[in-house]
Amino acid sequence: MEFPFPIAPVSEGAANLLVPDVARRKGPGSAGPWPFYNPTMAVNRDLSAIVLAKWPGPLGSVLDGLAATGAWGIRMAIETRADRVTFNDWSPETTRLIRENVRRNGLVAKVHRSDLRSLLTEGQYDFVDVDPFGPPTPFLAAAFDGVKGSAGIGITATDTAVLCGTYPRACEKRYGARPLRSPQGAEIGLRILLGYCDRIAEERSLRIRPILAFSAEHFLRALVMVSSGSASAPLGLVARGESGDFIAATAATRDAVGPLWLGPLGDPAVVRALQPSEWTSVVSARLLSLLKVECEMSPLFVTTDELAAREHRSPPRLDWFIDGLRAIGHRATRTHFHPRGVKTDAPSRECARLFRDLSPTGSTDDSRPAS
Ligand SMILES: C[S@@+](CC[C@H](N)C(=O)[O-])C[C@H]1O[C@@H](n2cnc3c(N)ncnc32)[C@H](O)[C@@H]1O
Repeated sequence: MEFPFPIAPVSEGAANLLVPDVARRKGPGSAGPWPFYNPTMAVNRDLSAIVLAKWPGPLGSVLDGLAATGAWGIRMAIETRADRVTFNDWSPETTRLIRENVRRNGLVAKVHRSDLRSLLTEGQYDFVDVDPFGPPTPFLAAAFDGVKGSAGIGITATDTAVLCGTYPRACEKRYGARPLRSPQGAEIGLRILLGYCDRIAEERSLRIRPILAFSAEHFLRALVMVSSGSASAPLGLVARGESGDFIAATAATRDAVGPLWLGPLGDPAVVRALQPSEWTSVVSARLLSLLKVECEMSPLFVTTDELAAREHRSPPRLDWFIDGLRAIGHRATRTHFHPRGVKTDAPSRECARLFRDLSPTGSTDDSRPAS
């Protein structure tokens, strides 16, 4: 088949794809003249495939709603429990390429060329995936209308500068929530996105249950189950307390952040059972093992950088600090949201005390202090 652009074969996961052979830069993609393929999003598709392989609901009919080259839909068809994958993209060149990629992978599938929002008025699916350029907000109401009573939605957001606090006004306008530019910005952004989904669900007497939500590279990803019923989890506001930690806030609190989804970012029973597959990259497998540990921890975290600034001391090694918190009876773990972040149930006073005890006291020597 001829295409009006140079084409190159790539393999990603279990899929063998033809993709436009064009120069790519790192970071979020934007609409261009040719079908879109971003290899840095492989981590998104790797993790999503692992989750859909153990999806706790039906996957009879699945829609890759904004399919581009079909990379994700093809991987869903081969690597997950999905039965019937339907592809959609509104671009004519793109749907030609999807058809070719579907054929190359030995699959038979419907490929629609529609505006996703109108396609979703015509039929309902067990799982709908929404992976747009930038914000998913234009598609979410239609996605919640387009899933069956108990179904799933996969949502990718690449408007991270908005959700994670660089453009707070745009976030308030787009998501009705205030973000915070901070080391916790990505987790706050993810919780704003889930809070927004929860409000859309509630307007339809539905509730959401995140099966797994995470951040990586330049995107946020949420895979949620949707079912009928009232309020999923409390949405809430937070603010920085006097010692710099996050505390519950109200709308009257100065600099309140949110509303945020304050429920879990994953379903522990499902997440515990997730396993890398033969198609999972090393980077994705490493991310999965961290997500498995932190998925049961409560919202937000502290970084050793913040503690160092507050305590005017240089930080101890992160693993020693985490071991120390565990040794005094607290739960503590690294977080994928920040390389020097610690999720713990230890009160901030105890964190600070342990930090001081373990700090090499202003020196750059990180040898463990004698106990
Ligand atoms: C970021 S790309 C999708 C990437 C793809 N999911 C993947 O895994 O490689 C977004 C795609 O959505 C398509 N698109 C944008 N708006 C659309 C709409 N309203 N309806 C259908 N397709 C749309 C674009 O043509 C583009 O191919």
